[in-house]
Amino acid sequence: MTRDQAAVLHAAAGAVPAGGAVVEIGSHHGRSAVVLAAGLREGARLVAVDPFPDDWRYGAAGTEQRCRANLARAGVADRVDLRVATSADVRARWDGRLDLVYVDGKHDHWTARADLGWADHVTPGGWVLVHDAFSSLGVTTALLRVLATSRTLRYVGRTGSLARLQVAPPSTADRLRLLGELPWWARNLVVKVLLRLRLRPLARALGHGDAADPY
Ligand SMILES: C[S@@+](CC[C@H](N)C(=O)[O-])C[C@H]1O[C@@H](n2cnc3c(N)ncnc32)[C@H](O)[C@@H]1O
Repeated sequence: MTRDQAAVLHAAAGAVPAGGAVVEIGSHHGRSAVVLAAGLREGARLVAVDPFPDDWRYGAAGTEQRCRANLARAGVADRVDLRVATSADVRARWDGRLDLVYVDGKHDHWTARADLGWADHVTPGGWVLVHDAFSSLGVTTALLRVLATSRTLRYVGRTGSLARLQVAPPSTADRLRLLGELPWWARNLVVKVLLRLRLRPLARALGHGDAADPY
């Protein structure tokens, strides 16, 4: 997460009314949860969802404990309800309204597509923010699939690879704006391949100076 992306999360959380609710999918060590929770007004809450699987890239023994410790250290633990479960499990039982959803969970197409289903719980005019929206094959194809036919979710723009979607009828301009991001997505996929092949100078030639994947 870049500083600019953190600023977007913080501002979006700050716009949630008192008594409102935010859901985060994918918390890891709690970095984005801290940013979101710190932006919330008194009386608003964050439900942070992560199964903390120990058999996956982000899993490691103690990840949940580190997340809880980071929330406590930041002084936001009382505003965060951390659910150790998958997004699908929590969504299946969810019946409340949401003002904001932040999607940063598993990045395969099917999980990302299911995670976008959280938008059904968001009040009209509310927001769905999606991390790695244009730097991952699975997340981008899920976005394209959902937004191609949605009549209730519009693509507004991006900060790096953080996409901002609003619960509102999409216009033709909104759909074209999403398509206009595809060359940048293709460039990011090429950069990822170059980094895997240890061809950093070529990635740099494409404007990517970081050793990490584009995000
Ligand atoms: C990229 S990390 C999240 C990073 C975090 N948002 C941050 O800013 O530090 C992705 C997280 O998604 C979690 N995850 C994996 N499968 C999930 C699922 N089905 N539902 C919710 N979270 C999941 C992983 O355990 C991992 O911690």
